[in-house]
Amino acid sequence: MTENHELRVSKIQNGTVIDHVAGGQALNVLALLGIDGTRGETVSVGMNVPSDRLGRKDIVKVEGRELSQSEVDVLSLIAPAASINIVRDYEVVEKSRVVRPETVSGIISCPNTNCISNADEPIKARFTVLSDGVRCDYCDTIVREDEVAANLDVS
Ligand code: CTP
Ligand code: ZN
Repeated sequence: MTENHELRVSKIQNGTVIDHVAGGQALNVLALLGIDGTRGETVSVGMNVPSDRLGRKDIVKVEGRELSQSEVDVLSLIAPAASINIVRDYEVVEKSRVVRPETVSGIISCPNTNCISNADEPIKARFTVLSDGVRCDYCDTIVREDEVAANLDVS
């Protein structure tokens, strides 16, 4: 059991705790979820906190918002070991793991500048999820897991 004096990030009353994120990926998790604080949400981030299971882990707590399973599934691309805890009135009422979706759309843009998804066409980037990254459905360019964060479509 974690002693209270070891608790680095306060417990939340209502919202979502994304736990067991690989060390150093917390800001990418927020970017991937489109959370930048501009909507006034309270967000707490712990980076490289000691973890029994991962050695070092990141943790993200979003207050007042329950993320849906589909929202968090895209996290599997950069945080495959993450667990999602839905908190209501200070209690964890739901705990789940991220699940890899079969395809992702509207989250990553294709790094191939010649790809039709980057042309002035009404075509949205779409990728097939592989075990270690994603593959563009239009030009077959592969974006590896460690390159996903750099290719987020945050526009
Ligand atoms: N948590 C929180 N606010 C709450 C309740 C829980 O921020 N009101 C956080 C805890 O700090 C922990 C995560 O949510 O990081 C999961 O909580 P809990 O299931 O109680 O902890 P563990 O049993 O340690 O979780 P796991 O088995 O997933 O490691
Ligand atoms: Zn492409």
